Amino acid sequence: MPAVGGIPTGPGKEYPGNLTPYVIVTCVVAAMGGLIFGYDIGISGGVTSMDPFLLKFFPKVYRSKHDDSSTNQYCQYNSQTLTMFTSSLYLAALLSSLVASTVTRKFGRKPSMLLGGLLFFAGALLNGFAQAVWMLIVGRILLGFGIGFANQSVPLYLSETAPYKYRGALNIGFQLSITVGILVANVLNYFFSKIHGGWGWRLSLGGAIVPAIILTVGSLFLPDTPNSLIERGNMEDAREKLKRIRGLENVDEEFNDLVMASELSKQVEHPWRNLLQRKYRPHMAVATLIPFFQQFTGINVIMFYAPVLFNTIGFGDDASLMSSVITGLVNVIATLVSIYGVDKWGRRFLFLEGGGQMLICQIIVAACIGAKFGINGNPGELPNWYAIVVVLFICIYVAAFAWSWGPLGWLVPSEVFPLEIRSAAQSINVSVNMVFTFLVAQIFLNMLCHLKFGLFLFFAFFVVVMTIYIYYFLPETKNIPIEEMNQVWRSHWFWAKFMTEEFSNGNVEMLKGGQALKNV
Ligand code: BGC
Repeated sequence: MPAVGGIPTGPGKEYPGNLTPYVIVTCVVAAMGGLIFGYDIGISGGVTSMDPFLLKFFPKVYRSKHDDSSTNQYCQYNSQTLTMFTSSLYLAALLSSLVASTVTRKFGRKPSMLLGGLLFFAGALLNGFAQAVWMLIVGRILLGFGIGFANQSVPLYLSETAPYKYRGALNIGFQLSITVGILVANVLNYFFSKIHGGWGWRLSLGGAIVPAIILTVGSLFLPDTPNSLIERGNMEDAREKLKRIRGLENVDEEFNDLVMASELSKQVEHPWRNLLQRKYRPHMAVATLIPFFQQFTGINVIMFYAPVLFNTIGFGDDASLMSSVITGLVNVIATLVSIYGVDKWGRRFLFLEGGGQMLICQIIVAACIGAKFGINGNPGELPNWYAIVVVLFICIYVAAFAWSWGPLGWLVPSEVFPLEIRSAAQSINVSVNMVFTFLVAQIFLNMLCHLKFGLFLFFAFFVVVMTIYIYYFLPETKNIPIEEMNQVWRSHWFWAKFMTEEFSNGNVEMLKGGQALKNV
């Protein structure tokens, strides 16, 4: 039996390819897609802790926050419309990522990115000028549509453009830009909340047009990926693009394999129905479980609601916004660690280490909050050291997420799907991520009100389950060319039995065909 998650020793391929400036610039622009996503994740929590914003749109929440300071702290923000404001975006993103699958497959990765940028631009404008709650919510829905398109296409774009040896690091550019987006949002919230006249929230929400413009303009200049050009029959164009991306004259081997993979995928008429076939079980497990688990780390409780959470545990408004700037900074820095290590230490190591670290922090934070707030949510005076300990462990938790489940939650799915199901499976990945992001955003304030400090233990439980899943069921994918990925499943102790003979033979036949193609 092969070792759990071991790296297969197959007829490994070495495609030549450099980290050309062309690849880097391309990836940087494409990763801007992550920026719009991150900006939104970070902006809503800060805005909803600004009094003028609450007073204008959610006066009931404002009153419960201020009028009666003796009420249960755990429940002060519990409001359906307020949660709807935050979470409507994710529902919209879910729907549009499904549409994006077809656009991405039929027209290329580029148009999806462009559409993402444009929708996002419209949403940001509507939010910045909002006069009523409906404008806020419609704006968030447009932003969500934009995110669906961007998140469906950008990770695919990155994984397909990168030379395989650097695929992990380049793909994490996407996550890095998510974290930069969150940090920028946190910093801007901090400053805009101080604007006299209380209209700073308009700048916070409207500021989203900046990343939207970068993505829109950037996507006009990006080339489409060779994989996608081949898939759409533009062979010569694809070969030229591959040469430019790799910085080499001779890209025959990789090109032929891409053509092969594409031929193989053309035999598939119904990518969606196909996903249900037995041989795609391992891929479907990745496409559904990875995003589900990523959200059940509980990270977005911190990302969306950090200021609200810090406010709840006794920080003033200013200190709350400041603390979320600190967690935002930790998030960015720890993502850099992941970029450094992902192709060296591998995906599994980061997942397992990150899981352990998150678990310990969640238990400590639950204990701290439980000890002071107890069941009735009335902490009395909170000493300074207490706040420091809570923020410290929240930071260590965020760091763990940021070098494990954060980036790998996007990287691993984007690299394990074979081309014939790649676009559809990636849509499933994004939709599942969005469903659970929505769910966590929607139920968090309510859960905080009812589960109290137990909320952190709730997520800790899932961290245990996901770590077990990784240990037994996720093979290592570092340094494996993306079109060679089937090998990984075929040598896995559990998933091997799903990889049917017919499938492996199919590949062998295609490989033979590839030899012929070389002479074309
Ligand atoms: C997740 C987001 C999360 C972010 C935090 C992303 O990978 O998908 O839900 O808010 O990481 O950095």
